[in-house]
Amino acid sequence: MNRRRFLGVGASVLGAGALAAVAGPAAARLFAEGHPGRLLSSGLDLPEPFQVPLPVPAVLQPVRTDATADYYEITQRVAELEILPGVRTEAWTYGGTFPGPTVVTRSGRAAVVKHRNELPVPSVVHLHGGHTPADSDGYPVDLLLPVGSSSAGQRAAGMPGMSDMPGMAGMGHEAGRTAEGERTHTYPGKQRAATLWYHDHRMGFTGPGVWRGLAGFHLVHDDEESALPLPRGDRDLPLMLADRSFTEDGSFRYPAIDEDLASPGVTDDYMNGVLGDVILVNGAPWPRLDVDRARYRLRLLNASNARPYRLRLDPQPSGGDALVQIGSDGGLLAAPIAHDVLEIAPAERFDIVVDFSRYAPGTSVRLLNLFGSGRTAEVMRFDVSGKKVGDDSTVPDELSAVEELDASAVDVTRKFVFRRSGSYGWTINGDLYRPGRDLARPALGSTERWRFTSDLHHPVHVHLNQFQVLSRNGRDPGPYDGGWKDTVDLRPAEAVEVLVRFTDYQGTYMMHCHNLEHEDMAMMADFTVQ
Ligand code: C2O
Ligand code: CU
Ligand code: CU
Repeated sequence: MNRRRFLGVGASVLGAGALAAVAGPAAARLFAEGHPGRLLSSGLDLPEPFQVPLPVPAVLQPVRTDATADYYEITQRVAELEILPGVRTEAWTYGGTFPGPTVVTRSGRAAVVKHRNELPVPSVVHLHGGHTPADSDGYPVDLLLPVGSSSAGQRAAGMPGMSDMPGMAGMGHEAGRTAEGERTHTYPGKQRAATLWYHDHRMGFTGPGVWRGLAGFHLVHDDEESALPLPRGDRDLPLMLADRSFTEDGSFRYPAIDEDLASPGVTDDYMNGVLGDVILVNGAPWPRLDVDRARYRLRLLNASNARPYRLRLDPQPSGGDALVQIGSDGGLLAAPIAHDVLEIAPAERFDIVVDFSRYAPGTSVRLLNLFGSGRTAEVMRFDVSGKKVGDDSTVPDELSAVEELDASAVDVTRKFVFRRSGSYGWTINGDLYRPGRDLARPALGSTERWRFTSDLHHPVHVHLNQFQVLSRNGRDPGPYDGGWKDTVDLRPAEAVEVLVRFTDYQGTYMMHCHNLEHEDMAMMADFTVQ
């Protein structure tokens, strides 16, 4: 990979020397690697690509419904999975699968999800992109302790990893604890159609939790989306991209500082992020999918801990513009944007339509990752069928009425500086995360301008409300910044301004880097809407 191109505009203007002065010698070393993270090699032979059919996670059926809500139950448990052909891998799962089951909800209806924890560790469930009341959002110390683990009085005490966490006792919300080992999250559904995902968010251990399998899709539909002639049914596919590494015996390999996960974080070499050498899509290594010569809606999610992807189809259809973006993290765009390549940072979603009728019957189309090298430069393959099929889908020129937030109506501007700390971990505005300390107190109903600046590569995520990107390095937003977003990718030495309006719910929420190793090593902050 070309280092200069990867670093982007900000870094080439500043120069590596200037950046090193800003971020210190340790950062200079990471910077010189040119990657947000370091490759962790597997201890077994990797399978040939394009052998395994693409799995699609099952849709979770509600256990009951009433006039205003649908009720779901998910049990978190250890499961033996066959991820690499012929190899058994013990995973931490939602309901026994990785990815977990897809929750499909309707805007305007509440979804009530009861989680039961049968894992050997505490967990926290967060709906990423959800517009959620604080007590259901999955604040990182709102632990769901395993069934049978302790009495109410000593929730965290004695659990692996919980003893040395300052500020743990008495934090967290009681609401939703329905029984020992169970917790109910209420998602009111006051949000537009969008591709969301749920994942573990345990304080200090989100990286290993997600790496071992705690992630799933949550799709919200609404009437505006349903009225559009977009591809649907079997031609509307969620695709969860995630890299992983495996040990000789088939377990997930992860460079935790402490194998028993008694203290958070990874060994020094992996501090800037863990990159796996196996690319999974929906939990299968480099899968393949038979496609009709028709349009497909692909809901891309980057669920990797630290790896960004630069996606391109190979071959490109003649005329290019193969990846027609119709949505972002927060749902449909106002109008489609055609791309030849798509950059997707951890936690971002891109909703795209690909028209495979632009390919001759029998064409094999690979999805490449131009940021990868060797095996990680490939993602999956689409095999275009020869048979004639009907396709009445289209991509309309107008997709959605998207309200544009008004920069001149901003009440407050705040700055957040994302950088490595001199000694341990990663900081926001110079501070390591401490639960209960607010970095901002926006007023309910107000619109704020948040300015994020970075030393290295940081995908910045804000809970509660989607935002709109106002500028990147003082200029217009980039090609991947369109629409409502909840995660924005900062490359080294960049400055990104976003507009965010805080609506509906008061309380304490998170903003953090979604490189999960950075997150676990303290690059998080609270903000309280009041
Ligand atoms: Cu997807 Cu606070 O995270
Ligand atoms: Cu989130
Ligand atoms: Cu980061």
